[in-house]
Amino acid sequence: MTDTTLIRGRLLSFKRAPLSLTDTDSYLYEHDGALLVTGGKIAALGDYAVVKMQAPDAVEETDHRPHLILPGFIDCHVHFPQMQVIASYAANLLEWLNTYTFPEECRFVESDHAARIATHFYDELLRHGTTTAVAYCSVHKTSADAFFAESLRRGMCMVGGKVMMDRNAPQGLLDTPQMGYDETRAVIADWHAKGRNHVAITPRFAITSTPGQMQAAQALAQEFPDLFIQTHLSENHEEIRYTSELYPDATDYTDIYARYGLLGKKTLLGHAIHLSDREADALSEAGAVAVHCPTSNLFLGSGLFPMKALMRRDKPVRVAVATDIGGGSSYSMLRTLDEAYKIQQLLGERLNPLESLYLMTRGNAEALGMERDIGTLDIGSTADLVVLSAEKTPAMKLRMETIRTLPEELFLLQTMGDDRAIVETYVAGKALKPH
Ligand code: GUN
Ligand code: ZN
Repeated sequence: MTDTTLIRGRLLSFKRAPLSLTDTDSYLYEHDGALLVTGGKIAALGDYAVVKMQAPDAVEETDHRPHLILPGFIDCHVHFPQMQVIASYAANLLEWLNTYTFPEECRFVESDHAARIATHFYDELLRHGTTTAVAYCSVHKTSADAFFAESLRRGMCMVGGKVMMDRNAPQGLLDTPQMGYDETRAVIADWHAKGRNHVAITPRFAITSTPGQMQAAQALAQEFPDLFIQTHLSENHEEIRYTSELYPDATDYTDIYARYGLLGKKTLLGHAIHLSDREADALSEAGAVAVHCPTSNLFLGSGLFPMKALMRRDKPVRVAVATDIGGGSSYSMLRTLDEAYKIQQLLGERLNPLESLYLMTRGNAEALGMERDIGTLDIGSTADLVVLSAEKTPAMKLRMETIRTLPEELFLLQTMGDDRAIVETYVAGKALKPH
């Protein structure tokens, strides 16, 4: 059978959030393990010798020993039209948006440009071990077309949305309430549930959407209750102040989205750094997800996201993690969790490496409600995988000489690892990392 393969290596997959560094019940680890992959799905996993017995006689084998095999990384907030915005020098969020980001996104009205960047975007994700991402396209339908056509071509599970924005940006980046509604519907009709594509309703943030456009987003959310909704919340103090001027009747920033029916279990709120207790309660009660983007928060000087404090509240807030390219400064989820770790250090909190690896795999899958398909190595999941080595740079290899435990190895990967630590990336059982 040509579509059955055996992939051998050290397997690591989380069963739930690890409670401590010694919480060995929270994950499955097989030192000499194997995955049997049939039709792009995981058909069996476990000890190599045992899984091998379940495989067809002449099964094709790929041996990744001594490398680690994990579920592919998931990035819950990224801007596909901002690949050429990364590393733009600005004082803060609003200056960065107006000076670099909005002019750059105007270029995505051109389908050739959108298609070229989409190719680079997926190449870069796969080079960094990311197999699923939740992305903002630009306001132009052309950008969503390019984004979804390329994910379909590669067989990747992707979430994305045409951004809705009808004020406070250059003319070339504005739709209207009606256009935002119509074009989002067109993107849904053209792309939703094609292959592994998911469309998200995507009002950029309250500053760039009039109340009329928020109503249009609300109408879409009511018509398509199964779709994700993504937007930005409470990233920067100046942004928060301006937002409350634009929506004077709302109790606070979160209340704006709540008033338009945009707060629910499928809502992904980028940043959510400076929330009041009332706002955190509102997110918790709605089951909405705060998406932490550490490299971006540090790069733009936006603030320190109180991840641990939000997670252990009486009314806990669901949290996901993301790169936020191009406010973020790395495509790597390893680099991202390294910065998340440092932010928690500054807040006097601990983020342990098991938790970090959980967050970028199963944790993010749970945030998306997709843990039956992605984020684990469970039987029945799609074989989206990342193969990792903590010995791919001389400095890491030297440090590995003194490492004795799995959590220590994971912490090294997170602290010093980047795309060089990614040996291979599989999408539905196919090795797709560009080499
Ligand atoms: N808020 C609204 N748009 C954006 C964006 O593109 N990036 C970031 N970091 N914040 C935003
Ligand atoms: Zn963003």
